[in-house]
Amino acid sequence: MHAWLCTNPTGVDALAWTELPTPAPKAGEVLIAIKAASLNFPDLLIVQNKYQMKPPLPFVPGSEYAGVVEAVGEGVTHLRPGQSVACLTGTGGFGTHAVAPAALCMPLPEGFSHVDAAAFIMIYATSHHALVDRAQLKAGETVLVLGAAGGVGTAAIQIAKKMGARVIAAASTEEKCKLCVSVGADAVINYTEENLREAIKSLTDGKGPDVIYDPVGGDFTEPAFRSIAWRGRYLVVGFASGPIPALPLNLALLKGASIVGVFWGEFSKRERQANAAMMAELAAWYGEGAIKPVIDRTMPMAQLPAAYAHMGSRSVMGKLVMVN
Ligand SMILES: NC(=O)c1ccc[n+]([C@@H]2O[C@H](COP(=O)([O-])OP(=O)(O)OC[C@H]3O[C@@H](n4cnc5c(N)ncnc54)[C@H](OP(=O)(O)O)[C@@H]3O)[C@@H](O)[C@H]2O)c1
Repeated sequence: MHAWLCTNPTGVDALAWTELPTPAPKAGEVLIAIKAASLNFPDLLIVQNKYQMKPPLPFVPGSEYAGVVEAVGEGVTHLRPGQSVACLTGTGGFGTHAVAPAALCMPLPEGFSHVDAAAFIMIYATSHHALVDRAQLKAGETVLVLGAAGGVGTAAIQIAKKMGARVIAAASTEEKCKLCVSVGADAVINYTEENLREAIKSLTDGKGPDVIYDPVGGDFTEPAFRSIAWRGRYLVVGFASGPIPALPLNLALLKGASIVGVFWGEFSKRERQANAAMMAELAAWYGEGAIKPVIDRTMPMAQLPAAYAHMGSRSVMGKLVMVN
């Protein structure tokens, strides 16, 4: 097998496309021939030693992937060779093969493409957990999604629409705003050109959004929170812009509003049954066509450094997927 090996986590330039022995699955594991692997934000951080999880060296990055089971280890009963699966294991995906714990592999229903499956779990699980569980979003409410053309942003638009909400998508370019409309947004704000607070005010008749989904952080958080509706829920999803913002707490008091943390990875470990039920609902929504990952482009696995460069340029719309 071949894989992108990180022996020294100093950045993408230190990754090497390396020939390695194909491993045999141990008890409870499966060997997967990888067909597609998507880039997630943590994949960028982990090769620079900036992510909270620091895997022992050397490691193969690639948190999320899909492929075909080639062999199963002792005790694995729910998967068999030849079956297609999607996995989110944190590392291992940027190669031709990976050994994964069987418990972290989701069997794919008929018709679920490997490219879509590799770009599915992280973004939809995060946005479903955020909007359905943490925000208790109701039909008829208005949701503002920041960074709406990105991975979790596009998933949030689709899930909010599926739940009957009105969606205002905010993004940094006209091209990204157009994409958000094609994904289902009812209205858009280009926050590079428009004043965020004034645009929100005019699009909500002064009332403000009931739910704000924020994977960006930085300078937009405070103006967005100042615009939230009475009893609003502000979802803290991530800090893609870098800085972690602080908020004056009197703003929460004045609006009777909640600041709600979202940490899907921890939820999936602490509340396994609720997570499994959520994943089953998401697979059903995919089957009925209500949600579908936005794929910016697919690239050959051997071009991973170019894909990382594209991701770092803030121009990706939806998800980048590497294919074998
Ligand atoms: N809490 C959780 O459970 C959870 C789960 C998954 C991901 N996350 C976090 O959510 C965030 C977004 O993840 P993602 O996969 O959707 O990432 P993404 O596809 O790269 O999207 C992030 C968006 O942030 C905006 N952005 C603003 N400033 C940026 C900058 N300096 N560099 C890059 N992007 C910038 C961009 O939109 P504009 O150009 O339109 O501003 C971009 O589309 C990350 O911080 C990630 O770690 C959290």
